[in-house]
Amino acid sequence: MKTFYIETFGCQMNAHDSEKVVGTLLREGYSQVPDEADAGLILYNTCSIRDKAEQKVFHRLNEYKKMQGEGKKFAVLGCVAQQEGNKIFERAPYVSLVAGSSSYRNLPDMLARLEAGETRITGLDDRQTDETFDTEFTARTNPHRGYITIIEGCDKFCSYCVVPYTRGKERSRTSASVLAEAQRISHSGFTEIQLLGQNVNSYADPSGKRTFAELLAAVGEVQGIQRVRFTTSHPRDFTRDIVDVIDAVPTLCDHVHLPVQSGSTDVLRAMQREYTREWYLERIAWTKAAKRDISLTSDIIVGFPGETDRDFEDTITLLDHVGYDAIYGFKYSPRPNTPAIHMHDSIPEEIKIERLAILNARQREIQRTNYARHLGHTMPIMVEHGANSRGQITGRSTQNKTVNFTCETTPAIGSYIDVRITQIFPSSLVGEAASASVAPSPALLAQQALNARFSAAQ
Ligand code: SAH
Ligand code: SF4
Ligand code: F3S
Repeated sequence: MKTFYIETFGCQMNAHDSEKVVGTLLREGYSQVPDEADAGLILYNTCSIRDKAEQKVFHRLNEYKKMQGEGKKFAVLGCVAQQEGNKIFERAPYVSLVAGSSSYRNLPDMLARLEAGETRITGLDDRQTDETFDTEFTARTNPHRGYITIIEGCDKFCSYCVVPYTRGKERSRTSASVLAEAQRISHSGFTEIQLLGQNVNSYADPSGKRTFAELLAAVGEVQGIQRVRFTTSHPRDFTRDIVDVIDAVPTLCDHVHLPVQSGSTDVLRAMQREYTREWYLERIAWTKAAKRDISLTSDIIVGFPGETDRDFEDTITLLDHVGYDAIYGFKYSPRPNTPAIHMHDSIPEEIKIERLAILNARQREIQRTNYARHLGHTMPIMVEHGANSRGQITGRSTQNKTVNFTCETTPAIGSYIDVRITQIFPSSLVGEAASASVAPSPALLAQQALNARFSAAQ
């Protein structure tokens, strides 16, 4: 029997790639096992966005070394695979397959070669391909949210970032294929869809039929779909019609993740983001002018080479101005192949740590004020987890906020329920059920039963 075990690190794109890789393996006659010791093939889907992530990979590969023998095979996938290529074989000779995400469409062929005994198989497309990895065989592991990659790769080349080198060039799927997948997802019972791309709004329909905003509307109108999310949006390609379509189509969630990276135009220039603070704030103003209360979140890098106290202060004043509902802050990490690696990493580690702490403390204060706007309001929540030890059920608002609430009955995962907000915390809301839950469709329950069997087998 052909068995495999898979480990995944990195962003949502990587997590969803693994769902597709697992689907492909199952289709090729493999079965998934819960324990790596029992697996004939161990796959490791890697991330190299910051140095720490990459170090983790090599640490893990050293652990694999001890598992050699017993005919076990090892495959390294994802961003470190693409970045390091053949060098992985030198550092870890027991690895037989190294493949970046732009070669996954060739996985069946690579697996056949692996089974035939080849030990140096590579899939390293390195910005060559225009093809995307579309497969009907996706092992969906999230019990209530169906992911669809609509655009792969990145052509933006921010000076600090590995992604353009690890994920190949920007290439979109046709809107017809995205809609067909949305319908399949809906038929299998999911009511929530999340569209994915490193820059999801740089979407360019190869058939020329739909803009990104039109695609959002069309997915939002697929029968049975109640919530549509999309991530990540890039400010450079953020157009006003995206705000208009969120206002017009109720199933589109009122949340935009629009990473700014820095509030200083000088730093943005050095980062090659190709927008200024003012350009970014104009897009924020459009979003704030919407009829709906659209929640805004962001990614921020502190300690980029040359970032002065004044530049950092510009980031803090930008936080105050925008009033994000959440941010993900990172210390700048020099990365191979990127233009910024040639800049002197001038900000000492202790200053990076200090700036990150100031950033996070300021943001916590902002959230405390921001979240108060929800007090006393009743909002629809999708149930994500059953009751914890304190009897609280966890769900999510359309703004993507975590809501912990009490309820007399036990609502099913994936059902919707109105919750009245009674208390706020810096990064979550607390409330009580104000209605009976709307049960998930029988199709979703069937899908969840399938997923449960699937994860039991993992
Ligand atoms: N395509 C998205 C984000 C991709 S990576 C965008 O452009 O916004 C996710 C986040 O990791 C980035 O937004 C950035 O904040 C962070 N990041 C990327 N490279 C980094 C580096 N070298 N050091 C620190 N953070 C980094
Ligand atoms: Fe990286 Fe910039 Fe591309 Fe985002 S847009 S993935 S930060 S290069
Ligand atoms: Fe990491 Fe690659 Fe995603 S570097 S963040 S897994 S695109």
